[in-house]
Amino acid sequence: MTTSRSRTGNGLTKAVIPAAGLGTRFLPATKATPKEMLPVVDKPAIQYVVEEAAGAGLSDVLMITGRNKRPLEDHFDRNYELEQVLRDKGDAAKLDRVQESSDLATMHYVRQGDPRGLGHAVLCAAPHVGDEPFAVLLGDDLIDPRDPLLARMIEVRRRYGGSVVALMEVDPEQIHLYGAAAAKPTEDDDVVNVSDLVEKPSTQEAPSNLAIIGRYVLDPGIFDVLRRTRPGRGGEIQLTDALQALAADESLSGPVHGVVFGGRRYDTGDRGDYLRAIVRLACEREDLGPEFREWLSTFVNEEM
Ligand code: UTP
Repeated sequence: MTTSRSRTGNGLTKAVIPAAGLGTRFLPATKATPKEMLPVVDKPAIQYVVEEAAGAGLSDVLMITGRNKRPLEDHFDRNYELEQVLRDKGDAAKLDRVQESSDLATMHYVRQGDPRGLGHAVLCAAPHVGDEPFAVLLGDDLIDPRDPLLARMIEVRRRYGGSVVALMEVDPEQIHLYGAAAAKPTEDDDVVNVSDLVEKPSTQEAPSNLAIIGRYVLDPGIFDVLRRTRPGRGGEIQLTDALQALAADESLSGPVHGVVFGGRRYDTGDRGDYLRAIVRLACEREDLGPEFREWLSTFVNEEM
């Protein structure tokens, strides 16, 4: 295996954020608006994801977008007209909030064309990423900012090489919604060695209740595997299938490890989880939290 600086995981700087999915679970809201732009309290869901990447030291962000996704580009760009109006009004606080999103990272965009699956979306990043390890953060998966995960995954890549997935224990009845991992313990309590992965298995077929969630640190060797990966479940090119090939044959580009995450995570593409994310994060906010919590507790006690 190559042992150049980037290949061993040092100096990881690039994040890829697939956001080209159709968001059908959230129709009709997502008919003309990307689901990643739906607000979680007062920021679009995608801004939390880019903040997380920047917070883990990933200063170069490539977003995989598609039709109807133009608002994503506008959100991370400057809005000079709005900024000037706020400047003229002397509203420094709002000006800061408007500028926050355009100062987070160097943003790049590529269009996926047909949404042919998450694996295909990641493959669209190959020319930009080149021969470096990189992180993938799903644009609709929100990790609570108080429970850092990505930094730990980058550390694990540094230690073990290869690729790293994020895993979470779920109710066995829910495993059919995720990719599931067969895993062996390592000497790190929160790290497992992944020997097999199955996309959306039935409860009976699932190798465990460890579900893959939307964070990955990938070796660039994944691109060659993705080029050879045929459409799988749902006729889509599945990232899980390519990772399964890596897990089955370490000589392709090193092992696959999993970081078992016990923190808070929300799938903002799912309506129930989206509502939970808003309530949780609003309760924690210094400006809105105290009043909102009081209202919520009255609401629960009196109306539920
Ligand atoms: P989902 O499985 O959530 O699919 O994709 P979706 O189309 O976005 O949403 P639903 O299920 O119809 O409501 C997981 C992630 O992979 C991205 C999505 O944007 C999301 O971040 N994705 C999926 C792509 O970028 N391209 C694809 O072809 C498919």
